[in-house]
Amino acid sequence: MNPDRTVYLDHAATTPVSPRAVDALLAELRRGGNPSSLHGAGRAARRTVEESRESVAASLGARPSEVVFTAGGTEADNLAVKGLFWGRRTAHPERRRILVSAVEHHAVLDPAFWMAEHAGAEIVLLAVDGEGRLDVAALESELAAHADETALISVMWANNEIGTVQPLDAVVRAARPYGIPVHSDAVQAVAQLGVDFAASGLDAMTVSGHKLGAPMGVGALVATRGLPLTPVLHGGGQERSVRSGTVDAPAVRAFAVALAETVAAREATAVRLAGLRDDLVAGVRRLVPDAVLRGPEPSSDRLPANAHFTFPGCEGDSLLYLLDSAGVQVSTGSACQAGVPQPSHVLLAAGVPEDDARGALRFSLGATSVADDVARLLDVLPGVVDRARSAGLASAPARLGERNGERSAGPAHPAPSGAA
Ligand SMILES: Cc1ncc(COP(=O)(O)O)c(C=O)c1O
Repeated sequence: MNPDRTVYLDHAATTPVSPRAVDALLAELRRGGNPSSLHGAGRAARRTVEESRESVAASLGARPSEVVFTAGGTEADNLAVKGLFWGRRTAHPERRRILVSAVEHHAVLDPAFWMAEHAGAEIVLLAVDGEGRLDVAALESELAAHADETALISVMWANNEIGTVQPLDAVVRAARPYGIPVHSDAVQAVAQLGVDFAASGLDAMTVSGHKLGAPMGVGALVATRGLPLTPVLHGGGQERSVRSGTVDAPAVRAFAVALAETVAAREATAVRLAGLRDDLVAGVRRLVPDAVLRGPEPSSDRLPANAHFTFPGCEGDSLLYLLDSAGVQVSTGSACQAGVPQPSHVLLAAGVPEDDARGALRFSLGATSVADDVARLLDVLPGVVDRARSAGLASAPARLGERNGERSAGPAHPAPSGAA
Protein backbone atom coordinates (compact mmCIF):
# COMPACT_ATOMS: atom_id res chain seq x y z
CA MET A 1 0.00 0.00 0.00
CA ASN A 2 1.35 3.42 -0.93
CA PRO A 3 0.21 5.94 1.71
CA ASP A 4 1.43 8.95 -0.29
CA ARG A 5 -0.61 8.30 -3.39
CA THR A 6 -3.93 10.10 -3.72
CA VAL A 7 -6.73 7.62 -4.13
CA TYR A 8 -9.42 8.64 -6.59
CA LEU A 9 -12.76 6.92 -6.05
CA ASP A 10 -14.96 9.41 -7.87
CA HIS A 11 -14.89 8.14 -11.46
CA ALA A 12 -18.65 8.67 -11.77
CA ALA A 13 -18.00 12.41 -11.43
CA THR A 14 -15.29 12.31 -14.07
CA THR A 15 -12.66 9.80 -15.05
CA PRO A 16 -9.12 10.56 -16.27
CA VAL A 17 -8.72 11.34 -19.96
CA SER A 18 -7.12 8.38 -21.70
CA PRO A 19 -3.62 8.98 -23.14
CA ARG A 20 -4.85 8.01 -26.61
CA ALA A 21 -7.67 10.53 -26.38
CA VAL A 22 -5.16 13.21 -25.33
CA ASP A 23 -3.00 12.37 -28.36
CA ALA A 24 -6.02 12.50 -30.68
CA LEU A 25 -7.15 15.79 -29.17
CA LEU A 26 -3.72 17.40 -29.53
CA ALA A 27 -3.29 16.20 -33.11
CA GLU A 28 -6.62 17.75 -34.12
CA LEU A 29 -5.97 20.96 -32.19
CA ARG A 30 -2.70 21.34 -34.04
CA ARG A 31 -4.37 20.74 -37.38
CA GLY A 32 -7.18 23.28 -36.95
CA GLY A 33 -9.95 23.98 -39.45
CA ASN A 34 -13.67 24.61 -39.12
CA PRO A 35 -15.66 21.57 -40.25
CA SER A 36 -18.15 23.90 -41.94
CA SER A 37 -15.51 25.64 -44.07
CA LEU A 38 -15.27 24.67 -47.71
CA HIS A 39 -11.50 24.88 -48.20
CA GLY A 40 -8.99 22.10 -47.60
CA ALA A 41 -8.56 22.70 -43.85
CA GLY A 42 -12.32 22.76 -43.41
CA ARG A 43 -12.79 19.60 -45.44
CA ALA A 44 -10.14 17.82 -43.35
CA ALA A 45 -11.89 18.87 -40.14
CA ARG A 46 -15.21 17.72 -41.61
CA ARG A 47 -13.63 14.37 -42.40
CA THR A 48 -12.49 14.11 -38.79
CA VAL A 49 -16.00 14.84 -37.57
CA GLU A 50 -17.68 12.36 -39.92
CA GLU A 51 -15.17 9.59 -39.21
CA SER A 52 -15.66 10.23 -35.52
CA ARG A 53 -19.43 10.09 -35.99
CA GLU A 54 -19.08 6.70 -37.69
CA SER A 55 -16.86 5.44 -34.90
CA VAL A 56 -19.18 6.72 -32.13
CA ALA A 57 -22.16 5.17 -33.89
CA ALA A 58 -20.37 1.81 -34.25
CA SER A 59 -19.40 1.87 -30.56
CA LEU A 60 -23.01 2.50 -29.52
CA GLY A 61 -24.90 0.28 -31.95
CA ALA A 62 -26.33 3.28 -33.78
CA ARG A 63 -26.26 4.68 -37.30
CA PRO A 64 -23.93 7.59 -38.00
CA SER A 65 -26.91 9.73 -39.02
CA GLU A 66 -28.37 9.19 -35.54
CA VAL A 67 -25.45 10.81 -33.71
CA VAL A 68 -25.87 14.49 -32.81
CA PHE A 69 -22.73 15.85 -31.18
CA THR A 70 -23.29 18.13 -28.19
CA ALA A 71 -21.21 19.82 -25.53
CA GLY A 72 -21.80 16.97 -23.09
CA GLY A 73 -24.49 15.08 -21.26
CA THR A 74 -26.36 18.06 -19.84
CA GLU A 75 -26.90 19.58 -23.26
CA ALA A 76 -27.98 16.25 -24.75
CA ASP A 77 -30.49 15.74 -21.91
CA ASN A 78 -31.85 19.27 -22.39
CA LEU A 79 -32.19 18.70 -26.12
CA ALA A 80 -33.99 15.42 -25.56
CA VAL A 81 -36.47 16.71 -22.98
CA LYS A 82 -37.18 20.15 -24.46
CA GLY A 83 -36.76 19.15 -28.10
CA LEU A 84 -39.06 16.15 -27.83
CA PHE A 85 -41.65 18.06 -25.84
CA TRP A 86 -41.83 20.89 -28.37
CA GLY A 87 -41.48 18.54 -31.33
CA ARG A 88 -44.36 16.34 -30.23
CA ARG A 89 -46.53 19.19 -29.05
CA THR A 90 -46.41 21.08 -32.32
CA ALA A 91 -48.72 18.59 -33.99
CA HIS A 92 -50.67 17.66 -30.85
CA PRO A 93 -51.03 20.46 -28.28
CA GLU A 94 -52.73 18.07 -25.86
CA ARG A 95 -49.46 16.17 -25.36
CA ARG A 96 -48.26 18.06 -22.31
CA ARG A 97 -47.11 15.30 -19.99
CA ILE A 98 -43.43 14.61 -19.47
CA LEU A 99 -42.85 11.32 -17.67
CA VAL A 100 -39.52 11.11 -15.84
CA SER A 101 -38.31 8.77 -13.15
CA ALA A 102 -37.95 10.41 -9.75
CA VAL A 103 -34.25 9.45 -9.65
CA GLU A 104 -33.13 11.15 -12.87
CA HIS A 105 -30.03 13.32 -12.92
CA HIS A 106 -30.74 17.03 -12.60
CA ALA A 107 -29.79 17.37 -16.28
CA VAL A 108 -33.13 15.66 -17.04
CA LEU A 109 -35.21 16.72 -14.05
CA ASP A 110 -34.43 20.43 -14.22
CA PRO A 111 -35.28 20.91 -17.92
CA ALA A 112 -38.49 18.99 -17.30
CA PHE A 113 -39.43 21.26 -14.40
CA TRP A 114 -38.37 24.29 -16.42
CA MET A 115 -40.77 23.20 -19.16
CA ALA A 116 -43.53 22.97 -16.57
CA GLU A 117 -42.83 26.50 -15.41
CA HIS A 118 -42.31 28.11 -18.81
CA ALA A 119 -43.79 25.96 -21.55
CA GLY A 120 -47.01 24.46 -20.24
CA ALA A 121 -45.67 20.98 -19.52
CA GLU A 122 -47.05 18.74 -16.82
CA ILE A 123 -44.47 16.64 -14.99
CA VAL A 124 -45.22 13.11 -13.90
CA LEU A 125 -42.55 11.79 -11.55
CA LEU A 126 -42.45 8.03 -11.90
CA ALA A 127 -42.02 6.22 -8.58
CA VAL A 128 -39.13 3.90 -7.75
CA ASP A 129 -38.75 1.12 -5.20
CA GLY A 130 -36.42 1.06 -2.20
CA GLU A 131 -33.46 0.25 -4.45
CA GLY A 132 -34.19 3.09 -6.87
CA ARG A 133 -35.72 0.83 -9.52
CA LEU A 134 -38.57 2.18 -11.63
CA ASP A 135 -42.06 0.95 -10.75
CA VAL A 136 -43.02 -0.36 -14.19
CA ALA A 137 -46.60 -1.13 -13.13
CA ALA A 138 -47.04 2.53 -12.15
CA LEU A 139 -45.73 3.59 -15.57
CA GLU A 140 -48.14 1.19 -17.28
CA SER A 141 -51.16 2.54 -15.41
CA GLU A 142 -50.07 6.11 -16.07
CA LEU A 143 -49.88 5.33 -19.79
CA ALA A 144 -53.18 3.46 -19.80
CA ALA A 145 -54.85 6.57 -18.38
CA HIS A 146 -52.97 9.36 -20.17
CA ALA A 147 -51.05 8.07 -23.21
CA ASP A 148 -52.73 10.57 -25.54
CA GLU A 149 -51.55 13.47 -23.40
CA THR A 150 -47.98 12.21 -23.08
CA ALA A 151 -45.13 13.89 -24.95
CA LEU A 152 -42.21 11.74 -23.86
CA ILE A 153 -40.76 9.37 -21.30
CA SER A 154 -37.24 9.74 -19.91
CA VAL A 155 -35.76 7.00 -17.73
CA MET A 156 -32.02 6.77 -17.15
CA TRP A 157 -30.10 3.62 -18.09
CA ALA A 158 -28.34 3.49 -14.73
CA ASN A 159 -28.36 5.78 -11.74
CA ASN A 160 -25.31 7.94 -11.10
CA GLU A 161 -25.64 7.86 -7.30
CA ILE A 162 -26.76 4.41 -6.22
CA GLY A 163 -25.92 2.51 -9.41
CA THR A 164 -29.36 1.03 -10.06
CA VAL A 165 -29.77 -0.34 -13.59
CA GLN A 166 -33.27 0.47 -14.78
CA PRO A 167 -35.64 -1.99 -16.49
CA LEU A 168 -35.44 -0.14 -19.81
CA ASP A 169 -36.75 -3.07 -21.85
CA ALA A 170 -39.98 -2.90 -19.89
CA VAL A 171 -40.18 0.87 -20.34
CA VAL A 172 -39.75 0.57 -24.10
CA ARG A 173 -42.32 -2.26 -24.21
CA ALA A 174 -44.82 -0.18 -22.25
CA ALA A 175 -44.39 2.89 -24.45
CA ARG A 176 -44.32 1.24 -27.87
CA PRO A 177 -48.05 0.50 -28.32
CA TYR A 178 -48.76 4.20 -27.82
CA GLY A 179 -45.93 5.46 -30.03
CA ILE A 180 -44.52 7.56 -27.20
CA PRO A 181 -40.79 8.30 -27.61
CA VAL A 182 -38.48 7.04 -24.88
CA HIS A 183 -35.26 8.83 -24.02
CA SER A 184 -32.62 7.38 -21.74
CA ASP A 185 -29.68 9.10 -20.07
CA ALA A 186 -26.96 6.49 -20.57
CA VAL A 187 -24.15 8.71 -19.25
CA GLN A 188 -23.17 6.33 -16.44
CA ALA A 189 -23.96 3.15 -18.35
CA VAL A 190 -21.75 3.28 -21.43
CA ALA A 191 -18.42 2.53 -19.73
CA GLN A 192 -19.86 -0.26 -17.60
CA LEU A 193 -22.73 -2.02 -19.36
CA GLY A 194 -23.31 -3.26 -22.89
CA VAL A 195 -25.09 -0.31 -24.50
CA ASP A 196 -26.57 -0.96 -27.95
CA PHE A 197 -28.89 1.79 -29.13
CA ALA A 198 -30.60 -0.21 -31.90
CA ALA A 199 -31.13 -3.26 -29.71
CA SER A 200 -32.47 -1.12 -26.85
CA GLY A 201 -35.47 0.08 -28.86
CA LEU A 202 -34.92 3.58 -27.48
CA ASP A 203 -35.74 6.67 -29.52
CA ALA A 204 -33.05 8.84 -27.97
CA MET A 205 -30.07 8.32 -25.70
CA THR A 206 -27.60 10.64 -23.97
CA VAL A 207 -23.86 9.98 -23.78
CA SER A 208 -21.13 12.08 -22.18
CA GLY A 209 -17.41 11.99 -23.04
CA HIS A 210 -15.81 12.75 -19.70
CA LYS A 211 -17.32 9.70 -18.01
CA LEU A 212 -15.43 7.40 -20.36
CA GLY A 213 -11.98 8.83 -20.95
CA ALA A 214 -12.69 11.80 -23.23
CA PRO A 215 -12.32 15.44 -22.18
CA MET A 216 -15.16 17.35 -20.54
CA GLY A 217 -17.52 19.30 -22.76
CA VAL A 218 -18.28 16.76 -25.44
CA GLY A 219 -21.04 14.18 -25.76
CA ALA A 220 -23.90 13.19 -27.98
CA LEU A 221 -27.60 12.74 -28.23
CA VAL A 222 -28.24 9.60 -30.24
CA ALA A 223 -31.67 10.02 -31.81
CA THR A 224 -33.55 8.08 -34.47
CA ARG A 225 -33.91 9.98 -37.73
CA GLY A 226 -37.66 10.39 -37.72
CA LEU A 227 -37.85 11.69 -34.17
CA PRO A 228 -39.59 15.07 -33.86
CA LEU A 229 -36.85 17.10 -32.17
CA THR A 230 -37.21 20.87 -32.05
CA PRO A 231 -33.77 22.53 -31.81
CA VAL A 232 -32.84 24.17 -28.54
CA LEU A 233 -29.80 26.01 -29.94
CA HIS A 234 -30.37 28.07 -33.08
CA GLY A 235 -27.71 29.39 -35.42
CA GLY A 236 -25.68 27.89 -38.26
CA GLY A 237 -27.78 24.76 -38.64
CA GLN A 238 -25.01 22.26 -37.88
CA GLU A 239 -25.78 18.71 -36.75
CA ARG A 240 -28.80 18.21 -39.03
CA SER A 241 -30.13 21.59 -37.85
CA VAL A 242 -30.92 20.13 -34.46
CA ARG A 243 -27.88 21.55 -32.70
CA SER A 244 -26.34 24.69 -34.11
CA GLY A 245 -22.79 25.66 -33.25
CA THR A 246 -19.38 24.93 -34.76
CA VAL A 247 -18.67 21.27 -34.14
CA ASP A 248 -15.66 20.88 -31.86
CA ALA A 249 -13.68 18.59 -34.16
CA PRO A 250 -10.76 17.94 -31.76
CA ALA A 251 -13.11 17.08 -28.86
CA VAL A 252 -15.31 14.93 -31.06
CA ARG A 253 -12.27 13.00 -32.28
CA ALA A 254 -11.03 12.45 -28.71
CA PHE A 255 -14.54 11.35 -27.74
CA ALA A 256 -14.62 8.78 -30.54
CA VAL A 257 -11.19 7.43 -29.60
CA ALA A 258 -11.97 7.17 -25.88
CA LEU A 259 -15.36 5.61 -26.52
CA ALA A 260 -13.97 2.96 -28.87
CA GLU A 261 -11.22 2.16 -26.38
CA THR A 262 -13.68 1.95 -23.48
CA VAL A 263 -16.17 -0.21 -25.33
CA ALA A 264 -13.44 -2.62 -26.54
CA ALA A 265 -12.20 -3.13 -22.98
CA ARG A 266 -15.58 -2.88 -21.30
CA GLU A 267 -16.35 -6.49 -20.50
CA ALA A 268 -12.96 -7.24 -18.96
CA THR A 269 -12.92 -3.89 -17.13
CA ALA A 270 -16.41 -4.45 -15.75
CA VAL A 271 -15.48 -7.88 -14.36
CA ARG A 272 -12.31 -6.51 -12.78
CA LEU A 273 -14.04 -3.48 -11.27
CA ALA A 274 -16.95 -5.56 -9.98
CA GLY A 275 -14.37 -7.64 -8.08
CA LEU A 276 -12.83 -4.50 -6.55
CA ARG A 277 -16.27 -3.11 -5.79
CA ASP A 278 -17.27 -6.36 -4.04
CA ASP A 279 -14.13 -6.13 -1.89
CA LEU A 280 -14.98 -2.52 -1.11
CA VAL A 281 -18.56 -3.35 -0.13
CA ALA A 282 -17.50 -6.33 2.00
CA GLY A 283 -14.77 -4.25 3.67
CA VAL A 284 -17.08 -1.35 4.52
CA ARG A 285 -19.64 -3.76 5.96
CA ARG A 286 -16.98 -5.48 8.06
CA LEU A 287 -15.40 -2.28 9.38
CA VAL A 288 -18.53 -0.16 9.80
CA PRO A 289 -21.27 -2.72 10.46
CA ASP A 290 -24.10 -0.16 10.69
CA ALA A 291 -23.29 1.37 7.29
CA VAL A 292 -26.13 0.65 4.84
CA LEU A 293 -25.51 -0.18 1.19
CA ARG A 294 -28.01 1.80 -0.90
CA GLY A 295 -29.24 0.60 -4.26
CA PRO A 296 -29.35 -3.08 -5.25
CA GLU A 297 -26.98 -5.69 -3.87
CA PRO A 298 -24.05 -6.28 -6.22
CA SER A 299 -25.61 -8.05 -9.20
CA SER A 300 -26.55 -7.34 -12.80
CA ASP A 301 -29.03 -4.80 -11.39
CA ARG A 302 -26.20 -2.57 -10.22
CA LEU A 303 -23.40 -0.77 -12.05
CA PRO A 304 -20.28 -2.88 -11.49
CA ALA A 305 -18.11 0.09 -10.52
CA ASN A 306 -20.52 1.68 -8.06
CA ALA A 307 -20.86 1.38 -4.29
CA HIS A 308 -22.94 3.73 -2.20
CA PHE A 309 -23.42 3.72 1.57
CA THR A 310 -25.14 5.78 4.19
CA PHE A 311 -23.36 6.07 7.52
CA PRO A 312 -25.80 6.67 10.41
CA GLY A 313 -25.11 9.71 12.56
CA CYS A 314 -22.61 11.18 10.07
CA GLU A 315 -22.85 14.11 7.69
CA GLY A 316 -21.76 13.02 4.20
CA ASP A 317 -19.81 16.24 3.73
CA SER A 318 -17.86 15.66 6.94
CA LEU A 319 -16.96 12.18 5.74
CA LEU A 320 -15.96 13.57 2.35
CA TYR A 321 -13.67 16.26 3.79
CA LEU A 322 -12.08 13.91 6.29
CA LEU A 323 -11.44 11.29 3.62
CA ASP A 324 -10.06 13.96 1.32
CA SER A 325 -7.62 15.00 4.03
CA ALA A 326 -6.59 11.37 4.35
CA GLY A 327 -5.88 11.28 0.59
CA VAL A 328 -9.05 9.52 -0.54
CA GLN A 329 -11.38 11.35 -2.92
CA VAL A 330 -15.04 10.34 -3.01
CA SER A 331 -18.40 12.02 -3.45
CA THR A 332 -21.58 12.43 -1.45
CA GLY A 333 -23.45 12.08 -4.73
CA SER A 334 -25.88 14.81 -3.77
CA ALA A 335 -26.09 18.50 -4.41
CA CYS A 336 -25.01 21.35 -2.23
CA GLN A 337 -27.16 24.44 -2.57
CA ALA A 338 -26.17 27.81 -1.13
CA GLY A 339 -23.57 26.13 1.06
CA VAL A 340 -26.03 23.76 2.70
CA PRO A 341 -25.81 20.06 1.86
CA GLN A 342 -29.13 18.79 0.51
CA PRO A 343 -30.18 15.21 1.05
CA SER A 344 -30.13 13.44 -2.28
CA HIS A 345 -33.42 13.40 -4.19
CA VAL A 346 -32.45 9.89 -5.32
CA LEU A 347 -32.23 8.55 -1.77
CA LEU A 348 -35.41 10.35 -0.72
CA ALA A 349 -37.26 8.91 -3.73
CA ALA A 350 -36.05 5.45 -2.69
CA GLY A 351 -37.64 6.02 0.72
CA VAL A 352 -34.47 6.67 2.72
CA PRO A 353 -35.28 8.86 5.76
CA GLU A 354 -33.85 12.37 5.49
CA ASP A 355 -31.42 12.01 8.41
CA ASP A 356 -30.01 8.77 7.01
CA ALA A 357 -29.76 10.32 3.54
CA ARG A 358 -27.48 13.03 4.94
CA GLY A 359 -24.78 10.50 5.71
CA ALA A 360 -24.31 9.36 2.12
CA LEU A 361 -21.07 8.56 0.33
CA ARG A 362 -20.61 7.26 -3.19
CA PHE A 363 -17.50 5.29 -4.13
CA SER A 364 -17.06 4.90 -7.87
CA LEU A 365 -14.29 3.03 -9.64
CA GLY A 366 -12.89 3.40 -13.14
CA ALA A 367 -10.41 2.02 -15.62
CA THR A 368 -7.42 3.27 -13.60
CA SER A 369 -8.65 1.85 -10.26
CA VAL A 370 -6.51 -0.77 -8.54
CA ALA A 371 -6.81 -2.97 -5.42
CA ASP A 372 -4.57 -0.58 -3.49
CA ASP A 373 -7.26 2.13 -3.83
CA VAL A 374 -9.76 -0.03 -1.99
CA ALA A 375 -7.17 -1.03 0.62
CA ARG A 376 -6.32 2.63 1.31
CA LEU A 377 -9.97 3.56 1.69
CA LEU A 378 -10.61 0.70 4.09
CA ASP A 379 -7.52 1.62 6.07
CA VAL A 380 -8.69 5.15 6.85
CA LEU A 381 -12.47 4.73 6.81
CA PRO A 382 -13.12 3.53 10.40
CA GLY A 383 -11.23 6.50 11.91
CA VAL A 384 -12.96 8.91 9.56
CA VAL A 385 -16.39 7.57 10.46
CA ASP A 386 -15.59 7.86 14.19
CA ARG A 387 -14.57 11.49 13.77
CA ALA A 388 -17.55 12.37 11.58
CA ARG A 389 -19.86 10.67 14.04
CA SER A 390 -18.51 12.63 16.97
CA ALA A 391 -19.08 15.81 14.95
CA GLY A 392 -22.69 14.71 14.42
CA LEU A 393 -25.24 15.76 11.88
CA ALA A 394 -25.32 19.49 12.61
CA SER A 395 -21.75 20.47 11.88
CA ALA A 396 -21.34 20.29 8.12
CA PRO A 397 -23.75 23.10 7.21
CA ALA A 398 -21.91 25.33 9.65
CA ARG A 399 -18.57 24.48 8.12
CA LEU A 400 -19.88 24.98 4.63
CA GLY A 401 -21.33 28.33 5.64
CA GLU A 402 -17.91 29.37 6.91
CA ARG A 403 -16.32 28.31 3.66
CA ASN A 404 -18.75 30.49 1.77
CA GLY A 405 -18.03 33.50 3.93
CA GLU A 406 -21.28 33.16 5.88
CA ARG A 407 -21.60 33.27 9.63
CA SER A 408 -21.36 29.91 11.29
CA ALA A 409 -24.66 28.91 12.87
CA GLY A 410 -23.53 25.78 14.67
CA PRO A 411 -20.68 23.90 16.27
CA ALA A 412 -17.40 23.84 14.39
CA HIS A 413 -16.59 21.01 12.04
CA PRO A 414 -13.62 18.90 13.09
CA ALA A 415 -10.46 20.07 11.37
CA PRO A 416 -9.77 17.62 8.56
CA SER A 417 -6.69 15.62 9.43
CA GLY A 418 -4.59 13.12 7.57
CA ALA A 419 -4.20 11.20 10.84
CA ALA A 420 -7.84 10.10 10.82
C1 LIG B 1 -26.49 10.45 -15.20
C2 LIG B 1 -25.87 11.73 -15.64
N1 LIG B 1 -26.48 12.48 -16.57
C3 LIG B 1 -25.96 13.62 -17.02
C4 LIG B 1 -24.76 14.10 -16.52
C5 LIG B 1 -24.22 15.40 -17.05
O1 LIG B 1 -23.23 15.15 -18.01
P1 LIG B 1 -22.18 16.31 -18.37
O2 LIG B 1 -21.30 16.46 -17.17
O3 LIG B 1 -21.45 15.78 -19.56
O4 LIG B 1 -22.94 17.53 -18.68
C6 LIG B 1 -24.10 13.37 -15.53
C7 LIG B 1 -22.84 13.89 -14.94
O5 LIG B 1 -22.62 13.77 -13.75
C8 LIG B 1 -24.65 12.14 -15.09
O6 LIG B 1 -24.06 11.39 -14.16
